[in-house]
Amino acid sequence: MIKTMHQTLFIVLDGIDGSGTSTHCNLLAGFLSLKGLKTFLTQEPSSSEIGKLLRKYLKDERIPASTDALLFAADRVLHYKTEIKKKLEDGYIVISDRYIESSIAYQSNQSDEITIEWVENLNLFAGEPDLTIILDIDPKISLSRKHQEFLEKFEDTSLLDKVRRVYLTRAEKLGYPIINTNNIIELVQTEIQKIVINKLKEKGFFIKN
Ligand code: TYD
Repeated sequence: MIKTMHQTLFIVLDGIDGSGTSTHCNLLAGFLSLKGLKTFLTQEPSSSEIGKLLRKYLKDERIPASTDALLFAADRVLHYKTEIKKKLEDGYIVISDRYIESSIAYQSNQSDEITIEWVENLNLFAGEPDLTIILDIDPKISLSRKHQEFLEKFEDTSLLDKVRRVYLTRAEKLGYPIINTNNIIELVQTEIQKIVINKLKEKGFFIKN
């Protein structure tokens, strides 16, 4: 495959808990690698020290919402500057399991004091993805698949209903593709792959059949 230094693609799959972002990021990474494309898969919270702290705080109801928002933004800027940007410069297609839209949808619903504008400002130094795909599912369906005793603090149907509404409103406003994931995994993945392939072709990538 002939590829110039300028060909990069930063893809994000985002959506409420249980929408299948991790499963579909993994499948997508495998699919792109099979096509011979250099692919880097990452996730948020990231593997940094801030990311590790966030994983701990996800189980702690006492952490103020603004602290969560600040830490998620700090983790993201670090993640972008030290990992994502470098991989893009090295010619990788980067796939991130969650990114800015997670902070906008979750943190703006965590407290009345937190506005979408504030979260957007906190995230100004995190580079923008080329493609954000929103995976959508009814929280009643997604949470029924999880063990109740292992639920994290955001895994609550009424909160997730509100979080979902923000994802969908933003997707419509910003033109993000929305994919319903309450379907056979292979069919959902094929839909995601089609969107990604179109974007890659638009960017001038050569895709082998
Ligand atoms: P998740 O991908 O569900 O991790 P895991 O499947 O390993 O538990 O992400 C953890 C939680 O973090 C999820 O409930 C969404 C939340 N979150 C935010 O609230 N804001 C953010 O910016 C990010 C990245 C995640």
